[in-house]
Amino acid sequence: MRKADASAATMKAWVCGPYGPPETLQLVDVPMPSPPGAGEVLVRIHAASVSSGDARVRALRMPPGLGFVGRLALGFRRPRRAILGTEFSGTVAAVGNEVAGFSPGDAVFGFPGAQVGCHAEYRIMPANGRIARKPEGLSFAEAAALCFGGSTAMHFLRKADLKPGERVLVIGASGAVGSALARLAVLGGARVTGIASGRNADFVRSLGVEGYADYTEGDLFAGSRDWDIIADAVGATTFADARGALAEGGRFLAIAGGVTDMFSRKSGGRRLVGGPAEERVEDIPALAELAASGDFRPHVERVYEFTQMREAHAHVDTGRKRGAVVVAIVPEGDETGPG
Ligand SMILES: NC(=O)c1ccc[n+]([C@@H]2O[C@H](COP(=O)([O-])OP(=O)(O)OC[C@H]3O[C@@H](n4cnc5c(N)ncnc54)[C@H](OP(=O)(O)O)[C@@H]3O)[C@@H](O)[C@H]2O)c1
Repeated sequence: MRKADASAATMKAWVCGPYGPPETLQLVDVPMPSPPGAGEVLVRIHAASVSSGDARVRALRMPPGLGFVGRLALGFRRPRRAILGTEFSGTVAAVGNEVAGFSPGDAVFGFPGAQVGCHAEYRIMPANGRIARKPEGLSFAEAAALCFGGSTAMHFLRKADLKPGERVLVIGASGAVGSALARLAVLGGARVTGIASGRNADFVRSLGVEGYADYTEGDLFAGSRDWDIIADAVGATTFADARGALAEGGRFLAIAGGVTDMFSRKSGGRRLVGGPAEERVEDIPALAELAASGDFRPHVERVYEFTQMREAHAHVDTGRKRGAVVVAIVPEGDETGPG
C-alpha cells in the first residue's frame, strides 16, 4: 500500500435492519474497510445517491409473486448487504499495490451497483472496476448521481438498438432513469417525447426532447400509435397494452416491468426488452466523457445531510422525485478535511 490517510478503526455507515420503512435504517459505527489490497483503492465517500433501487431493497418491494425470490437473492429478513447505496463520488484515500491511474487525493466517482455499500464514509473499489475520475465540471453531488440512471438508460437503449431519427416515447421522463434515457436518446439522434406530470414539464423539456405530454391529462401514449420505442420507466403499462402503440418493428422497454414483462420476447412484429440492466464497467468512463463534454448532466433534486438518510429514503418512497436524491457525507466545499 502506498499511502493510507485513513487510520480510524471505525467509520459511520447506515445499515439496513429488517425489511421495512425508512426507520429500519440505523446510523452505526462499523469497522473501517481493510487497507486496500493489490489492485484496489480505498475511497473516502463524499456523496452517494439514494436511488429507487435502494428504497426497493430496503422495503423489499418486489413484483407480486416474487417476494420469496427476492428474499432468496437479497436475504431472508434483511438485506445480506446491509449497507445500501449503489453509486458514490469521493476522493481516493489510499491505493494498493499494482494500481495504475489513481493516486491519493484524486476525485473519483463509481458504481458498485448491486454490490452496494456506498452509504458509508469509506469503501474499497477495484481500481480496474466501476470507478473513474470525476468530471471536473460536475459537483460531487452530481457525480454521485451519474450512474444509476445513466447506466440503466445505456443498457436499455443498447438492447433496443436505437437508430437516429427514430421516435421514442419515455414514460416517466422526470425520474433518474427516465430523464437519463430521454437525454441519451436525444444525443443518439432520436425524436423524443417525454411523459411526466405538469410540475415536471420544464425539466423534461430541458432535456432537449421534441415533445412533452402530461400523463394526468390524457393518453399515456401521447396520442400516437407508431412509436419506434416506448420506454416505460415507471411501470405505468405493460407490453400487452403498449404493443398497439408501437410501429412495426417497435420495441417496448419494460424498465420497471412486473413478472409478465421480465423476459424479453417478440410478439406481432414488436419486441419486448425486459429484465435487470447489466452493470458494465465500460459504461462508467463513457458516462464521464458525456458529462465532461457537457452533453449529459444528472439532475439532483435535493442534497440531504448524511444524518438525514431516512428523510431521503422517505422522499424516494413517494415515487415522485425529480432526477436523483443525494446524501452528502462530506459537505460540498469541505473536501479538504481529514481523509
Ligand atoms: N430494470 C432495471 O435494471 C432497473 C434499473 C434501475 C431502475 N429500475 C426501475 O425503474 C424505475 C424508475 O426508477 P427511477 O429511479 O428513475 O425512479 P424515480 O426517479 O423514482 O421516478 C420518479 C418519477 O416518475 C414519475 N412518474 C411517477 N408516476 C408516473 C406515471 N404514471 N407516468 C409518468 N411518470 C410518472 C414522477 O414524475 P411525476 O412526479 O411528474 O409523476 C417522478 O419524477 C423504478 O421502478 C426502478 O425500480 C429498473
